Order: sequence, then C-alpha cells, then structure tokens
Amino acid sequence: MAGLLEGRRALVVGVANKRSMAWGIARALAREGADLALTYQTERFKENLDELVTELPRPVLEFPLDVTVDGSLDALADALSREWDRLDVLVHSVAHARSDELAGRFVNTSRDGWGLALDVSAYSLVGLARVMLPLLKASGSASIMALTYLGSERVLPNYNVMGVAKAALESAMRYLAADLGADGIRVNAISAGPVKTLAASGVKGFSSMLHEIEQRAPLRRNITTEDVGNAAVFLASDWARNITGQVLFVDAGYHVMGI
Ligand SMILES: NC(=O)c1ccc[n+]([C@@H]2O[C@H](COP(=O)([O-])OP(=O)(O)OC[C@H]3O[C@@H](n4cnc5c(N)ncnc54)[C@H](O)[C@@H]3O)[C@@H](O)[C@H]2O)c1
Repeated sequence: MAGLLEGRRALVVGVANKRSMAWGIARALAREGADLALTYQTERFKENLDELVTELPRPVLEFPLDVTVDGSLDALADALSREWDRLDVLVHSVAHARSDELAGRFVNTSRDGWGLALDVSAYSLVGLARVMLPLLKASGSASIMALTYLGSERVLPNYNVMGVAKAALESAMRYLAADLGADGIRVNAISAGPVKTLAASGVKGFSSMLHEIEQRAPLRRNITTEDVGNAAVFLASDWARNITGQVLFVDAGYHVMGI
C-alpha cells in the first residue's frame, strides 16, 4: 500500500540523536514514503545523523545549519534548491536556552539569555520559512510545523524564559499562517508532552514531571516521539489541508486538566 506522503519532500531541522522529537518525526515521514533532507548543528551531531539514517528506507540529504546565522540559513536554501525544485514539508524542532536561565527565579532572566532563547527557539521559524519560501511556494500545498510546549501558556517550574520563547513561537506560527496561506502554505504547531531528550535534560525536575503526568493526564501515560511523528504525518498530509494556524496537543490530554 502506498504511504500517505509518497512523493512528498520534507526538510526536518533538529535531529540531535535517536531520542530527538525530530528523529521520531523523520522516521514517521519516511515510513509514509516522504523523501527527507535533514540538518545537523555541528559535526558532532553529523556523526549521530550518519549512523541514524542507515535505519531509513531511502537515502536522505544532509546539510549543516546553525539557525542563529543568516548565512547558514541562506546556504541551506541554496544547497537544497540545487537538489529539489520544491519543498512540501518543513519541520522546525529546535530550541535552546542557557541552563542557568531555566532554573532559578524568572525575574533574574538576563537580556542576553532572553535574546538567545528567543532567537534560537522562535525567530528561527520565521528565518527558515523566509529562506525556504520559493521552494515552499513551488509545492502548491506545503505544510510547515514547529514543536512547542504547554509552558507557552501555563507557568511550569524550571521552564522560565523558554516559556516566553514558546509563546513567541506560537504567535509567529499564527502570523506565518496568515501571511503564507495565500501561497498555499499551512503553518501549525505540535504541543508535545514531555519526553526525555537532550534538550529536556536541561530542565530540572524533569523525571518528576513524567511521573506526575502518568498520575494526572486523562490517558494516564506519557507520550513518545513516535506519537509526535504520527501527528506530524497528519499535519503534513492532505488530510489536514484546511488546518492552519493551530496548536495540536499530543500530550495524553494533560493540558485540559485544572488540578
Ligand atoms: N522533549 C520535550 O519534552 C519537548 C516537549 C515539547 C516540545 N519540545 C520541543 O521539541 C523540539 C526539539 O527538542 P527535543 O526535545 O527533541 O531535544 P533535542 O535536543 O533532541 O533537539 C533540539 C535540537 O535543536 C537543535 N539546535 C539548538 N540550537 C540550534 C542552532 N543554533 N542551530 C540549529 N539547531 C539548533 C539541536 O541541534 C537539536 O537537534 C524543541 O523545540 C523543544 O522545545 C520538546
């Protein structure tokens, strides 16, 4: 049986290792027949990527990318447009904040720490969409998605400036959805429940959050990166052709709970 994304071309930004949300998404997109291009932040991550991609059914393209450097974004767009004449799916799965800005009192957030967190974790969605616009327009029905977290709208311990960055990311997602809709481009976010990844290791008390969710989420369990990958397949596919500007929660229902 043909996959849901047969013939679609997807760029996934943010695979660090096999635990990454982006890797769960890459695997699910590949399973459904999409051709993949992946990026790596540094040579250390490229080693992980080279090993991981051997699990995928088809060869993938790999490019370096540091989202804080305009030249790096432009170089990625140039390199990708030499390989592909269109881009159907763009996945943004990137975030970073200084660990001392995550723990401690929010009032102590520094101007630098604020700038870094919002640049890497929120502006990068706009920067990526801009450099990829010609390829995305050529798709005729492209789907952009970003990974977000409940800390954008609720106060959660040890999330601090990253909550502000996720609020900015979700707002940017909506503005992009409005701006790019006329080009046939949808823009959405997946709000994932907590998963133990490299980025999550910077959040103090993370294991107790996982335990709390098992007790209190409507479905009484935690999610996996495979769940996130399956939601990404839906958003990438034509089944979601009239869904844009939305935050889709993949969190076992945790966000609906009061206490
Ligand atoms: N793990 C969770 O519990 C959870 C929950 C909800 C949302 N998210 C979001 O999922 C996304 C992916 O995070 P993850 O948990 O898979 O962790 P991860 O550490 O596996 O992925 C983070 C990625 O960001 C990349 N990155 C950081 N700075 C970069 C830069 N300057 N240029 C290019 N890439 C850069 C890293 O290389 C890495 O690949 C993030 O947006 C995160 O906030 C994670």
